[in-house]
Amino acid sequence: MASYVVVGTQWGDEGKGKIIDVLAHKADYVVRFQGGNNAGHTVVVDGEKFVLHLLPSGMLHGNGKCVIGPGVVIDPKVLLHELSTLEAKGAKVDHLFISDRAHLIMPYHVKLDIVKEEARGNNKIGTTKRGIGPCYADKIARCGIRAVDLLDMETFGKKLKINLDEKNELFTKIYNTEAMSYDEIMADFTEYSNLLKHRIADFIPEINEALDSGKIVMFEGAQAMMLDINFGTYPYVTSSSPTAGGVTTGVGVAPSKIDRVIGVMKAYTTRVGEGPFITELNDETGEKLRAIGSEFGATTGRPRRCGWLDGVVGKYAVIINGLTDVVVTKIDVLSGMDELKICVGYEIDGKVLTTIPAAIEMTEKAVPVYETLPGWSEDITGMREYDELPENCKKYVARMEEIIGCEITMISVGPDRTQNIFRKEF
Ligand code: GDP
Ligand code: IMO
Ligand code: MG
Repeated sequence: MASYVVVGTQWGDEGKGKIIDVLAHKADYVVRFQGGNNAGHTVVVDGEKFVLHLLPSGMLHGNGKCVIGPGVVIDPKVLLHELSTLEAKGAKVDHLFISDRAHLIMPYHVKLDIVKEEARGNNKIGTTKRGIGPCYADKIARCGIRAVDLLDMETFGKKLKINLDEKNELFTKIYNTEAMSYDEIMADFTEYSNLLKHRIADFIPEINEALDSGKIVMFEGAQAMMLDINFGTYPYVTSSSPTAGGVTTGVGVAPSKIDRVIGVMKAYTTRVGEGPFITELNDETGEKLRAIGSEFGATTGRPRRCGWLDGVVGKYAVIINGLTDVVVTKIDVLSGMDELKICVGYEIDGKVLTTIPAAIEMTEKAVPVYETLPGWSEDITGMREYDELPENCKKYVARMEEIIGCEITMISVGPDRTQNIFRKEF
């Protein structure tokens, strides 16, 4: 097996960063395929914590190439800050490359994200305010500015002028806020161009040749299925396709080239931002999960909403992504709970559904149908073999597999690189 896709199966923050870091040690390439610095991927190495927003989570290995793919949206200022932070910690950074087709998050995208959220009032999405939605909107509207434009600042300037004139109209006439300065943006981006241009190129041929010659390529997803623009809880979603299909459109690699699709699934559920969350626990158990699981956003620091595992979401993720493997994370957080619940259906207007309704108005009135399983009390963070796990923990894993319809081939029992139980070779 040479190509692996790693995706989130819930509402993000499942531990994708950790899993990619663990699996990336033998990868020749780690490629991000969508999203931007709305992502916060945590990697813990020898007790030191790194949170990566735009940089692929394979960065800390330094042996393969890390590529920010065409489907990603890049805020160059954030990227440069991440690179210098990593370098200051002694990590190698010259193996980071940027696709010329990736779109740039411009300062007016960030400002638009903020003013649009304010204008939405009670209907706000709860975005990360990083300019993601407005940048993807311009991409689809065919007026975006791309990394390739940083290689020719004259063209860049022309595109900036057209875009900024329009955005400044919006700022001053619709949102009653100040216009932005062309000269300031131009000066900043001239500096970003000088600092980044040696990393920008077309990597589509190279990645495809690498796959054809049997090299190991990992595709790193950000966000997760329930935040997918097509399959998530629309409109409370992000503006990209974090599901496995996003690899083909976000990198330029055909579906036939993908060998293994790995879904990362937290043993319970969390969500940051607004929108429906059927198994949410607004009680002591939810608070316990947040405290023990340290469930605070890696990007915005917001407390994550917590709840029981949603098996309907899990099954949907297996189908939509065509998962070949599920990696369960943070199951150690469940130690010490008397009993555990898994949602196996949604009761809506007296009927039980086992699929995700399109209308959030339906989701909002759904009552979860739970199965209850016995808990375990042992600390499992030091266990490295499946057979060492408490019987009730193994029963929980086995029941998860039955409900979602996919094999759980790896279990993560702590944040560190070394805290894993492998049930299959990767
Ligand atoms: P990502 O966005 O999917 O990469 O996930 P985040 O990094 O935002 O959030 C996952 C958090 O859980 C991070 O703080 C990780 O260090 C931590 N983590 C990952 N796997 C495990 C695990 O198996 N057990 C525990 N206790 N923490 C984990
Ligand atoms: P990782 O990769 C969790 C959420 C935001 C908001 C919605 C839209 O770390 O799993 P956006 O800024 O993308 O327009 O916000 O999506 N969101 C995430 N939640 N983890 C993430 O990334 C997220 N990226 C975006 O909170 O609800
Ligand atoms: Mg995260």
